[in-house]
Amino acid sequence: MTLQEFLERIAEVEARAESLISSASSAAELEAARTSLVGRKSGALSALMKELPSLTPQDRPEAGARVNQVKVAVEDALDTRTLDVTGRQATGQSVDLTMPARRSWKGGKHPVTLVIEEIEEIFRELGFTIALGPEAETEWYNFGALNFPAEHPAMDLHDTLYLEDSVLLRTHTSPVQIRTLQNFKPPIRILAPGNVYRRDFFDASHAPVFAQIEGLSVDEGVSFVDLKATLTRFANRFFGTTRTRFRPSYFPFTEPSAEMDVECQICKGRGCATCKNTGWSEILGSGMVHPSVLEASGVDSERYTGWAFGMGPGRIAMQRFGIPDIRILYDSDMRFLEQLAE
Ligand code: DAH
Repeated sequence: MTLQEFLERIAEVEARAESLISSASSAAELEAARTSLVGRKSGALSALMKELPSLTPQDRPEAGARVNQVKVAVEDALDTRTLDVTGRQATGQSVDLTMPARRSWKGGKHPVTLVIEEIEEIFRELGFTIALGPEAETEWYNFGALNFPAEHPAMDLHDTLYLEDSVLLRTHTSPVQIRTLQNFKPPIRILAPGNVYRRDFFDASHAPVFAQIEGLSVDEGVSFVDLKATLTRFANRFFGTTRTRFRPSYFPFTEPSAEMDVECQICKGRGCATCKNTGWSEILGSGMVHPSVLEASGVDSERYTGWAFGMGPGRIAMQRFGIPDIRILYDSDMRFLEQLAE
């Protein structure tokens, strides 16, 4: 065969391919076209390739290159058209309908979210409403209105992250107390969950971002008895009947202040590494709302009193699920999360 004839035959196949492919309207027709054009045994292009040896050695490279070029173009056109017609990639293989399906991937709630929701539920039963506040706060809401004196060393404890002059990432959820008191008249009972930020290094018991839940109850005649009764009730609902204790403490925004411990849930009070052998685990800070906090928020402190608390649901989740290192809560390790997800 001469080169001229060979090239003419390729051109014919090319033209036929074009009309076959563009007029095909089903996967089956395209499969038939594929067989007749590039099929290994009877395809027109394969047949032409077998003719190559009949050309002179000088003509073979050009003829070979051309036939290959057309073959690639035809295969591309077949794939594209198949995609159009069936809406999925041509694999050259049929689908095995008997193959078992892949197990679907089920998401779940993070242990800290589960704990927050459970705490919300208990306080909802006790008449509390959920309130939220911004994570970027002004110094006044985060410190000033909460009775931190300017330059007070207590602010160092919070080792703060500033965004600009007097705006910072809130170091606690307590500013939501102020925002609520400014906007609503007592009686007030709110629960304010949310993230807070500290310039802390990650270690087994610290994280620079963590969740807190603030609680606030303000009305006429509210006393420390209400604080103790409500928080003890909460602990017994959440952990099951358990021992609790209050220890005197200090916060600028409460007077008097107390921290509440529950029996360490990991060792049941016997003493272990997690509770540093004390048998107790601190779950919250609390106290009677300082009169200056009420006044700063525009509430008459002669008429109203209140109590407040702040707790760390991360710590509580660690107690509940027996998690020894806080970093596990941030690792996104599916092997851990799957054990607790609901
Ligand atoms: N805001 C405190 C903190 O982040 C926690 C706290 C303690 C909140 C006592 C309160 C409270 O409302 O009464 O460490």
